[in-house]
Amino acid sequence: MRRGRRAAHLLPLALALAILPARAENGLVTYAIVGDAIPEPLTDAPGDPARGRAIVADRTRGLCLLCHAGPFPEERFQGNLAPDLTGIGTRRSPGQLRLRLVDGRALNPDTIMPSYYSLSGLARVGRAWQGRPILSAGEIEDVVAFLATLREPEGRP
Ligand code: HEC
Repeated sequence: MRRGRRAAHLLPLALALAILPARAENGLVTYAIVGDAIPEPLTDAPGDPARGRAIVADRTRGLCLLCHAGPFPEERFQGNLAPDLTGIGTRRSPGQLRLRLVDGRALNPDTIMPSYYSLSGLARVGRAWQGRPILSAGEIEDVVAFLATLREPEGRP
């Protein structure tokens, strides 16, 4: 009796797992690198530029402005360890932006930029992130959508 009830309980879970998009063993969405880009989005739903901007500007989540500067007039302290993100949407395609966010080590194994959608080699991130990527697949798409809106010429204040 108890055994039967437990099995019935698991059935919806098994069905839900069967219809999820392709995921690797580590639970991350699988993706293909073509040249220096990941041309296909990680999610079916398109990214949201406003949510992406919030992630980039948030110092507890994206951390981007520790290293990068960009068109964020409200942010007083911005980094100078990395290229300025102003106009990046003109210089890079969405697919190129996606690979640089997901795992920039594919292009530069020694990069100091964190791999935002990877579980390996995250020595520079805190324990709270171990076992899961820094950003979810949906958040990666949000940030890509936002960066794509940064068009040249934008001018810096
Ligand atoms: C610890 C520093 C650091 C952090 C944090 C960081 N980056 Fe970077 N990023 C770099 C460096 C350095 C490069 C230059 C590429 C390299 O390292 O080979 C780079 C490159 C890039 C590029 C490619 C620039 C180009 O001209 O091709 C993009 C886009 C980018 N970062 C976006 C982001 C975003 C968005 C975030 C936050 C979600 C972020 N970065 C967080 C250091 C950082």
